[in-house]
Amino acid sequence: MCGIVGGVANKNIISLLLEGLNRLEYRGYDSSGLIVLSKNNTFDRVRSLGKVKNLEDNLKGRVPLIEGNIGIAHTRWATHGEPSIHNAHPHISKNSVSLVHNGIIENYIELKNDQLSNGYLFTSETDTEVIAHAIDFAMKSCSTLIASVQLAIKSFSGSYGLGIISSKYPDQIIAARKGSPLVIGIGVNGNYIASDQIALLSVTNKFIFLEDGDVAEIKIDKITIYDFEGNLVKRPVKISKLKLGEFDVGDYDHFMQKEIFEQPQAIRDTLESRITNDSILISTFGFKAEEIFNKVTQVQIVACGSSYNAGLVAKYWLEDIAKISCNVEVASEYRYRRPILLNNTLFVTLSQSGETADTVEALKEAKKINSSITTLCITNSAESTLTRLSDLIFLTHAGLEISVASSKAFTTQLVALALLTCSIGKLKNTINKKQEKEIIDGLKRLPGLVSEALLQENQIKKLAIKFKDKNSTLFVGRGTMHAIAMEGALKLKEISYIHAEAYPAGELKHGPIALIDRHMPVIAIAPNDELLEKLKSNLQEVKSRGSQMIVFEDENSMVKPMEAMEVIPVTSNLGRITAPIIFTIPLQLLSYHIAIIKGTDVDKPRNLAKSVTVE
Ligand code: F6R
Repeated sequence: MCGIVGGVANKNIISLLLEGLNRLEYRGYDSSGLIVLSKNNTFDRVRSLGKVKNLEDNLKGRVPLIEGNIGIAHTRWATHGEPSIHNAHPHISKNSVSLVHNGIIENYIELKNDQLSNGYLFTSETDTEVIAHAIDFAMKSCSTLIASVQLAIKSFSGSYGLGIISSKYPDQIIAARKGSPLVIGIGVNGNYIASDQIALLSVTNKFIFLEDGDVAEIKIDKITIYDFEGNLVKRPVKISKLKLGEFDVGDYDHFMQKEIFEQPQAIRDTLESRITNDSILISTFGFKAEEIFNKVTQVQIVACGSSYNAGLVAKYWLEDIAKISCNVEVASEYRYRRPILLNNTLFVTLSQSGETADTVEALKEAKKINSSITTLCITNSAESTLTRLSDLIFLTHAGLEISVASSKAFTTQLVALALLTCSIGKLKNTINKKQEKEIIDGLKRLPGLVSEALLQENQIKKLAIKFKDKNSTLFVGRGTMHAIAMEGALKLKEISYIHAEAYPAGELKHGPIALIDRHMPVIAIAPNDELLEKLKSNLQEVKSRGSQMIVFEDENSMVKPMEAMEVIPVTSNLGRITAPIIFTIPLQLLSYHIAIIKGTDVDKPRNLAKSVTVE
């Protein structure tokens, strides 16, 4: 969370800072701010509440206009201290140091008390301000800015991605990272920093991804990097393939809608070069994957949010099809509960961003618990912390996902997990050649099936109207559809702010059925599988309690419409792998259109951020 961008160049840096902030808004949008060193080496700072647009408007009103060739900027997702101007970054210490921060300094109260006794004044309730004061204090005993930062960070516990400038060192930015992502962009007429390369694409496609503990001194013509121990290090320069055009919403109203409709292509791209006509290429998980998967005796999946829901689907697949034991857990719990990790475990992290702090920490923890395990990350972000920490990497090729609510990242994760299931099943001989071919055929049909499901948008738009005044909704499904129901409920709450819960349909009678009345719609998913008849009985139970029901079914499920029940055939002849992916589509569309009716900020829902890089 929080996005930072900065640069030192041979021209005014303001427009680059604003452009970068706009691209980083997915990381938080409670407030934003920027600071430059003006010609006489004094700080010029502007901060605004809310979105970056407000900062832009604020800057337009400044006379004279703010200018500077060196500056840093920040878009905030509030952790310590409410969203307010005085808590907005950049923060300043004694007109000598200014900085932007992404992360949390956990021991800030202790540091603050020391600094108060040393005469430092605080103007915010943030944890960040102690960093500025700590650096200013260190400057008294150090001869360079970078040495001051290196000294100060030794006293911090927690996480940080930092961009720091000083009025005493007007030719440089210091960047430091621990836990939070930070990248250096190498330009022609300047050098830059950002939380994410997408902030800098208009000035460069050359990037250095800092490693945990790195501290860098960035001048217009020189970049010097040290590791946490203070050793001079060289980090590789990578060329980004990302294109600026991907940031355009095109003919769609919102990025979420665009990304929902990009799913056929995203799935095609994720499958490309990973399957042949009749088999899966196991080496797609890494050239040692075959050897590793052969030895694996259980799978542990760890993830958050939608990625966790994808993991839940995979548990059914891995145990049912590949006959391998699989556990799935949310990363924020896993990382703290000292779990048992047996030898020969394949430890899988799922993450669109590859930067989710809890998932990254859970992976580090797992490696500490049992260093013999093999780690696989399934992510949409090639240059991410998770890819750097994992033995095996599978990149979903969903393309840039800008909307905070995940859509194509989720369905492409499911595709990746289907390939994983098929690979392990093939090596363990739990699926034969014919079954492998059936799975491959199903995967190949997916883009077409998704396109068909998307044709229901108009019908779903009409359904959405029914939710206009609803406060709560229940999603039910059985088997993998319980996980899809969870994903549907998550989507609905995050973008429409309607309370939603998901239950395995068979569990309703153990409590939640008490909630059901005509004010509480129930959305059910009814694939044509071995649990269909049981689901139909569950629907009868719900109907008897007077609920309005919407059932998304496989045409062959033939759920009989009843009073106050709408049955919507999504498609037909879906299999165990294709069904959960396809039934996700109407749920995404439904949430999207309910959010439109409720008038929420669909792509940037309140209180959320796309990449959760703090605990
Ligand atoms: C929901 C959503 C979040 C993310 C979660 C994990 O629509 O987007 O729940 O799925 O924050 O993010 P990643 O996958 O980047 O680790």
